[in-house]
Amino acid sequence: MKAAVCERYGPPEVVVIKDVPMPVVGEHDVLVRVKATAVNIGDARVRAVRVPRGLSIPTRLAMGILRPRNPVFGLDVAGVVEQVGAAVRSFKPGDRVVASRGFKFGGHAEFMAVPESGAIAAIPAGVSDADAVALLFGGVTALLFFDQAKLQAGEHILINGASGAVGVMAVQIAKQRGAEVTGVCSAGNADLVRSLGADHVIDYAAGDFARESVRYDLVMDNVGNAPYARIRHLLKPGGRFLMVIGDLREMLAAALRKDVVSPAPADAAAFSATYYRLLMEMAAAGQIRAVIDRSFPLEEIVEAYRLVDSGHKRGSAVITVGPAAH
Ligand SMILES: NC(=O)c1ccc[n+]([C@@H]2O[C@H](COP(=O)([O-])OP(=O)(O)OC[C@H]3O[C@@H](n4cnc5c(N)ncnc54)[C@H](OP(=O)(O)O)[C@@H]3O)[C@@H](O)[C@H]2O)c1
Repeated sequence: MKAAVCERYGPPEVVVIKDVPMPVVGEHDVLVRVKATAVNIGDARVRAVRVPRGLSIPTRLAMGILRPRNPVFGLDVAGVVEQVGAAVRSFKPGDRVVASRGFKFGGHAEFMAVPESGAIAAIPAGVSDADAVALLFGGVTALLFFDQAKLQAGEHILINGASGAVGVMAVQIAKQRGAEVTGVCSAGNADLVRSLGADHVIDYAAGDFARESVRYDLVMDNVGNAPYARIRHLLKPGGRFLMVIGDLREMLAAALRKDVVSPAPADAAAFSATYYRLLMEMAAAGQIRAVIDRSFPLEEIVEAYRLVDSGHKRGSAVITVGPAAH
């Protein structure tokens, strides 16, 4: 099968399309024919080992010291069940599903096998493969942080970086949970962020929200320029800081602070069928929608990496796989 393969760390061009062996399908596994996947910032960070200060050694230890241990990246896919192992009961060939192997990756390929008990959920009728996959990375991140922070209806949350993959889902899910939402984005993305439900929008080029007098129940930093030390005075009593991105020192310090929420990226809940099912249900009910910056065929995945590396994508960069991609 064809796959986008990253055999050494480096710029987007290190990723090449190659023939690789088909995944082995165990008796508890579901083989998915991939129709759509995404290049997420997680793929780009590992590809370039471009991680916050102090995290490059832990990243290499986890992902491969000199080169990626799993050279086919891709956290999540949408597609059709091609084959199931003998013991599989919940899925059958022809079912449309979203799926992930977490940080074992494997999604940037024509096929991916996942355990039936892993992160796999049916795609409802009316939700396209591209939309389904575009909901996953940001949607799971938002759910994970909001659940750990116990976000309540009526609370006011500031979402810094409201137009990226995480931000567009965080804005919508926070609104669904009854929160008041302030999104921080550029002027060019203000209409998008408002259309997703944000009550207030702050243009990051026009002023520094950390210097304003408004106080929040939660502050979520998806950019990395609003660490706890800079925003702690914005938190109301009982307020929480959602550190979606932070360096090693900030992560260690967070472990000692009750008001900082910082789940490990490999948190088991992040790649669970529960969150995938919830996101699919919300999409089918029209409560959330996918935001796709651009779609690229698998053969043009290097372009998708360039978009992600720019730091200015809106929502997701989707990769289409197979004949429909052309
Ligand atoms: N801890 C975890 O479990 C976890 C999980 C997922 C992601 N993350 C981290 O979360 C971060 C966000 O991920 P993502 O997928 O949302 O990234 P992304 O899609 O690449 O974010 C790009 C967006 O950031 C906006 N942006 C850039 N500079 C900004 C600024 N100064 N203020 C406000 N917005 C700004 C850009 O808008 P403009 O073009 O308008 O500038 C663009 O829309 C990443 O650092 C990622 O590593 C952590």
